[in-house]
Amino acid sequence: MKSLKRTRDITPLPSRNFKITVDDQPVDACEGETVLSVLLAANYARVMENDRNVASGAYCGMGVCHCCQVKINAKHKQRACQTLVEPQMSVETLTNRFKEEGIKHD
Ligand code: FES
Repeated sequence: MKSLKRTRDITPLPSRNFKITVDDQPVDACEGETVLSVLLAANYARVMENDRNVASGAYCGMGVCHCCQVKINAKHKQRACQTLVEPQMSVETLTNRFKEEGIKHD
């Protein structure tokens, strides 16, 4: 299985790491960091698809803009910047519940 590489970390990860899965690919993570930190380190620019099928990247990084919503452990619309990683966590980017369930906007 192909793994995601973290190429954009500002400082090296501490030695006590674990893996999470992002879009079905394992990637290193460490206790105390956010999902958004992992996504940015793995070079994800666009993480969310809104209800009008427009992709966006994280903007504020502090829970205000809601531009970083991803699917975490099968739950939609979780803010990546406000969610701490946990071992075995599964993250899916560019997902949209409306699209998955066939719900259309007017
Ligand atoms: S980046 Fe703005 S809420 Fe997460």
